[in-house]
Amino acid sequence: MNNTDQKAEAVERMFSSIAPRYDLLNHFLSLGFDIRWRKRAVGAFPGGVAGKNILDVACGTGDLALALARAGDDATRVTGGDFSSNMLAIGGEKVAKAGLGARLTLEFLDALKIEHPDGAFDGVTCAFGVRNFADLDRGLLEMARILKPGGRMVILEFTTPTNRVIAAAYRLYFTRILPFIGGLISGNRGAYEYLPDTVYKFPTPDQLSARIAKLGLAEVGFTPLTFGICGIHTAIKPKNEG
Ligand SMILES: C[S@@+](CC[C@H](N)C(=O)[O-])C[C@H]1O[C@@H](n2cnc3c(N)ncnc32)[C@H](O)[C@@H]1O
Repeated sequence: MNNTDQKAEAVERMFSSIAPRYDLLNHFLSLGFDIRWRKRAVGAFPGGVAGKNILDVACGTGDLALALARAGDDATRVTGGDFSSNMLAIGGEKVAKAGLGARLTLEFLDALKIEHPDGAFDGVTCAFGVRNFADLDRGLLEMARILKPGGRMVILEFTTPTNRVIAAAYRLYFTRILPFIGGLISGNRGAYEYLPDTVYKFPTPDQLSARIAKLGLAEVGFTPLTFGICGIHTAIKPKNEG
């Protein structure tokens, strides 16, 4: 097994272990902001998602996929894919409870080897997922590959605030308080130490934009949210691409 596979397996194990408490902790630790951030990601499709066929990569327990399906119409088709069966199982219960099974399907999916044909989707989304990819460029390439020409990529991801005062408060919360509470509630403190660790090591918004542009995507943009704690990357697959 190579390094990428080992890293992917460790990430899968970690998310599977925290899956039962994942949603609760997400909403609690972000003070409910995560719900608004996902709504903003849905809003990053100009003209809405009605009639669109969208793949939500690394969907976890399905919150973004559900938000997309809710915002759509009966012609909207959302596929949420993740490699953690525990996260998917919780997502499946939520889809059934929401009565959105006709619009939204959850499936096993490896973001580094997406088993969908080139150009299959009008949109591809990923919320708080790309940071966890064992190979970021491969994952981004796969996301671009399955987009139709003219299709839109929307990535919601944590960043680090640029304002010094907010950055200091954020660091204190993110590296001290969050791992403590996350560990207490999930029983896996390591997972909540991993979160700030990966955020601080992750490419800056400019660097990530450059990597997206390098794939040949156009109209690459970034919108910071909530003091730059996170933000939304958007891009379009050019229509003339072969
Ligand atoms: C922080 S969670 C985000 C889940 C969800 N998108 C959300 O907004 O809550 C990250 C997810 O990425 C998934 N993941 C990481 N690498 C993956 C890969 N290579 N293929 C599929 N899923 C992956 C994990 O299993 C986990 O469910």
